[in-house]
Amino acid sequence: MMINELNRKFGIEGHVSFQTGTGDLAKAVVTNQRASAEIYLHGAHVTSFQPHGSTPVLWLSDIAEYESEKAIRGGIPVIWPWFGPHPQDKTKPQHGFARVSEWELFDTTGLPDGRTRLRLQLKDNVATRTLWPHPFELELNITVGARLRIELTSRNTDQETVEIGGALHTYFNIGDITQITIEGLDGREYFDQLDSHRVKLQNGSISISEEVDRIYLDTVNECVITDPNLKRKIRVSAAGSRTTVIWNPWIDKSQRMADFPDEGYRTMVCIEATNAADDIYRVPPGGEHTLSQTISTEHI
Ligand code: BG6
Repeated sequence: MMINELNRKFGIEGHVSFQTGTGDLAKAVVTNQRASAEIYLHGAHVTSFQPHGSTPVLWLSDIAEYESEKAIRGGIPVIWPWFGPHPQDKTKPQHGFARVSEWELFDTTGLPDGRTRLRLQLKDNVATRTLWPHPFELELNITVGARLRIELTSRNTDQETVEIGGALHTYFNIGDITQITIEGLDGREYFDQLDSHRVKLQNGSISISEEVDRIYLDTVNECVITDPNLKRKIRVSAAGSRTTVIWNPWIDKSQRMADFPDEGYRTMVCIEATNAADDIYRVPPGGEHTLSQTISTEHI
């Protein structure tokens, strides 16, 4: 859909308009009474969220690639229908195909309390069926207010049960990786993806001073980033998810990624509302599963 048509059909004064973003990709620009945000239709990818009076909450690479075949580096990539490498076929794209698919916007609403809601969908097509042989309907609801809420609903329109994994792979903007702590995972076991998936136990809050790539198990609590440099806490809660990934690529991996600045690891950390490991959903025909994440900030 062209930008003019998006504005005519879905633009709402005081809430949302549409523009051509980087790489000629269409984006929604939300500005309401409480916050601003940007969402690319490519990948249904939230690239920024900023409550008024706050510093940007999401980290976005300044050398991200905005191309139809690529995932935007930063913001909130939608990982679906598998997390990480494909379980059987390593030639298939890491983290599935939702983040590199063209989603269709089908509804925008200015809510009575001033928040703005966008609804996007992705259905199976020739390209998705070659990677994952199932019909499906995927819906992403994004609600922008003082908090950001993002809900991913997978509907199984197949005749058979399907297995669904994924993540809302959120990159948070932080002042200094060596100064933050992450609370909420104390006492949880995790798979250390950098140590042959060994199971380890988290003791206390998380501090980061090296590459970290962990799948925490049985996660039920809110995670809280305490960021003394930006003088805030970021609260991250999830539903429909019992696994949480914490990721920071640190020095060497940052240098290996073409779309990631060498120094980028200093000011980001991912806390991902995940369906992976023992938290893969078996969704029966006609059934659905919703994975969601809610993000808020608080001045300290
Ligand atoms: C994380 C994985 O979720 O995503 C990491 O746990 C991976 O192993 C990271 O490096 C980034 O993945 P990608 O495909 O966006 O480079």
